[in-house]
Amino acid sequence: MKLLADKVVLITGAGSNVGRATAKLFDDHGAKLMLSDIDPDRVTDPPAGAEITAADLTEKDDCQAMVGAIEDRFGGLDGLCNTAGIDPPSARTTLETSVEDWDLIMNVNLKGTFLSCQAALPLLLKRRGGATITNIASQGALLTLPAMTAYGVSKAGVLQLTRQIASDHGTDGIRANCVCPSGLEQPSADRLKVLSDERLAKRAEIMQKAAPLGRVCLPEDVANALLFFTSHLSGFTTGSAFAVEGGATSMIRF
Ligand SMILES: NC(=O)c1ccc[n+]([C@@H]2O[C@H](COP(=O)([O-])OP(=O)(O)OC[C@H]3O[C@@H](n4cnc5c(N)ncnc54)[C@H](O)[C@@H]3O)[C@@H](O)[C@H]2O)c1
Repeated sequence: MKLLADKVVLITGAGSNVGRATAKLFDDHGAKLMLSDIDPDRVTDPPAGAEITAADLTEKDDCQAMVGAIEDRFGGLDGLCNTAGIDPPSARTTLETSVEDWDLIMNVNLKGTFLSCQAALPLLLKRRGGATITNIASQGALLTLPAMTAYGVSKAGVLQLTRQIASDHGTDGIRANCVCPSGLEQPSADRLKVLSDERLAKRAEIMQKAAPLGRVCLPEDVANALLFFTSHLSGFTTGSAFAVEGGATSMIRF
């Protein structure tokens, strides 16, 4: 069964691991796709027929142009999935976070998500029902992540932004939900650049132990949640914080 037959969906941060997995799954389910990233060269192996556009989500004009390109190409929009996000490892505890890193992280993760949602809303509202916004936060929006102050705060902001959209626009026929993944098998592009193989293996071991399901999160796990929220199967769900973390937030391991 194709859950997104002829639905027009915009995926931001489409060059991310999650973005790539989501584009493939949504294509399998019949969606018409616009894939956006600040660096379109990162959008490798896109599904045939998908459109690709460059947009820096921290720039209001870029967000407006991104949505304008969708209207020109497809004439409307049914779903927005924001997967863009950054996680520079130089930003650590409150004491160890520079103002520059704080501003950068808030700008991309929170302001970028806000501007993308703000630009897409008028087109989504035109559907008069059934349109969706799904943002990616992190399990760091539900609990604290050691030494990741700015990232955690930005993702808690993404969750609250999503709830705000859900409550302000529910009667307009918009559903907005937030997916909160645990650490993915592959860390963010920012972290991948600096982590040694040894640290990567240690990271995977810690995450496996932290989850009752005993494995790390895969991009496909997050893509499946995005499919649920973009499809009619989640038709009575809005404003939710949906953990995709193998149960990690329900367990303290002694
Ligand atoms: N990797 C993890 O362990 C993990 C865990 C929990 C949540 N997340 C979140 O999941 C999402 C995807 O993570 P990932 O690791 O697959 O991502 P990634 O690091 O592989 O890719 C991030 C993408 O965002 C794009 N981007 C960066 N700044 C942008 C901007 N200003 N405008 C537009 N695009 C921009 C990059 O070009 C890149 O393609 C992110 O929101 C991330 O915070 C990741």
